[in-house]
Amino acid sequence: MAETNGQRLPSAGWIVAKAHWNKGYATEMGRGCIGWSFANRHEDTVTAPIQPGNVESEAVARKLGMRVTAHDVTAGLPHDIWTMTRDRWQQRSD
Ligand SMILES: CC(C)(COP(=O)(O)OP(=O)(O)OC[C@H]1O[C@@H](n2cnc3c(N)ncnc32)[C@H](O)[C@@H]1OP(=O)(O)O)[C@@H](O)C(=O)NCCC(=O)NCCS
Repeated sequence: MAETNGQRLPSAGWIVAKAHWNKGYATEMGRGCIGWSFANRHEDTVTAPIQPGNVESEAVARKLGMRVTAHDVTAGLPHDIWTMTRDRWQQRSD
């Protein structure tokens, strides 16, 4: 869970040991987390707060079909709020 602009929502995050980057592990983790959230929780949105310019993390969010829908400051740092909605998750083709 993470608070975004005063709203508390399920939140997915990913971190992978550098020796194993670019093998699809973070995307697989993110897909699992989002799917779990929609299967087990009532909220219709999952967020992923990402610092602008974190190109690897942005690539993961994009591959998952997430979109930037808001901006926030977390721990004093600006973050784009990438989101997936239940409707879009159910309509995805991957
Ligand atoms: C972000 C992170 C978790 C990604 O893990 P990963 O297992 O390598 O991710 P994936 O392999 O699933 O996908 C990585 C994507 O980034 C892309 N990528 C890598 N370097 C890139 C670059 N310099 N510019 C643009 N895209 C880049 C890869 O091409 C890949 O996308 P593709 O499959 O479309 O080619 C990893 O880089 C990491 O742990 N970073 C440090 C922690 C962090 O910043 N976490 C996110 C906090 S919000």
